[in-house]
Amino acid sequence: MANITRRSALQSMAVAGTGLAVGATGAAAQDGQMMAKPAAPGMKVPAYAPVVYKLDDLVGLNKDMLEQHYKLYAGYVTNTNKANTALSEMIAAGKTESADFAETRRRLGFEYNGMRLHEYYFGSMKSGGSPVDAKLKAAVEAVWGTWDAWMADFVRTGMMRGIGWSMLYQDPWNGALSHHWISDHEYFHPAGFTPILVMDVWEHAYVLQFGAQGRKAYVDAFFKNVDWGVVAKRLK
Ligand SMILES: [Fe+2]
Repeated sequence: MANITRRSALQSMAVAGTGLAVGATGAAAQDGQMMAKPAAPGMKVPAYAPVVYKLDDLVGLNKDMLEQHYKLYAGYVTNTNKANTALSEMIAAGKTESADFAETRRRLGFEYNGMRLHEYYFGSMKSGGSPVDAKLKAAVEAVWGTWDAWMADFVRTGMMRGIGWSMLYQDPWNGALSHHWISDHEYFHPAGFTPILVMDVWEHAYVLQFGAQGRKAYVDAFFKNVDWGVVAKRLK
């Protein structure tokens, strides 16, 4: 059963921002430039911490593969924090015209989505899954006709070539549901839409257990462990 604990998230936002500003001032003072060119304040940046998941007993999914997956997820959390900190430090140091600044700002979308998409994904998994939620079933049947037709279209999206994510989204403006393919972690997200069902189809999610040709077997195993109650709660 999923046992999720947010150790801390965002709680040190103000502290992190203050620390960066103090650090930048200190560095400038060491260079003897503080009086000539006061350091910019940088940014207040959030400090994210990885969620701890206990999903070792998922049906049909290898524990070792999951352990590796958790570590990859934690890496995205670490790199999100590093990217935000680096951007703040570059702003404070007046290095915003650099190629590093532009690359780090672009990279932030990759790292941030790598973190958050894994939280949607792991956060809706539970050993053996849970019964299909009636509200969710009615919502997808209103679009795709039947539950099976909806699932076939979601799986079809996840079987597309490339690395990324299969997503069931809801448009908060009108409640409409739609499927989208996300390349890498950051490409093709519809702006402002709410992720409802999120399935990782990067190779690291299945190759260790199922082989390079084993994506469909992995997808079948994934659906044995979906906590439909959690998924349904994301619907508005
Ligand atoms: Fe992943």
